[in-house]
Amino acid sequence: MENDIQKILFSEQTILARLDEIGWQISKDYEGKELSVIAIMNGSIMFMSDLLKRVRIPLQIDCWSISSYHGSKSSGNINFRQHDIKDVTNRHVLLLDDILDSGLTLYTIKNKILNETKALSVKSCVLLSKEVKRVKPIEAEYIGFNIENQFVVGYGLDYNEHYRNLPYVGILKQ
Ligand code: IMP
Ligand code: MG
Repeated sequence: MENDIQKILFSEQTILARLDEIGWQISKDYEGKELSVIAIMNGSIMFMSDLLKRVRIPLQIDCWSISSYHGSKSSGNINFRQHDIKDVTNRHVLLLDDILDSGLTLYTIKNKILNETKALSVKSCVLLSKEVKRVKPIEAEYIGFNIENQFVVGYGLDYNEHYRNLPYVGILKQ
């Protein structure tokens, strides 16, 4: 598995140090508010676990199973594999995803929540944000790291379901 990695972009130590900062920021911003975190599976599994340990306010967690990517090119549509949404009425929603790329995933989910629930607000938090032209008009309020337009794996990110369990984010060899 490690032999397929061309270069490590963010080590586990670097990621966790950044999550200390974001966790602190989220704790501060949502202090005294009812917070519901919705994590997009499977990509945000590591991110969710490490980040939420660093958030020091009460919150609810929901995991949504969604798929949009096949191989290293987006399929352009979102499959909601789960339809049972935890009630977020009068709550502030924070979406967690591994990476913001075209924006299609977060845009679709954000609109679904805005249209179908009585959430008070919907914001997004991503580990990585690709510096590309978004297909949909959405940006994340909390970003771990900005990266160039390249395909990365590890720390939850996959290539055809492989490499999610690497402890770091790296660039895959061609
Ligand atoms: P978007 O809908 O194009 O913003 O893409 C979001 C989803 O595509 C993410 O949740 C990832 O699962 C996947 N994705 C985008 N870029 C990468 C990448 O570089 N490596 C692995 N998965 C990616
Ligand atoms: Mg994926």
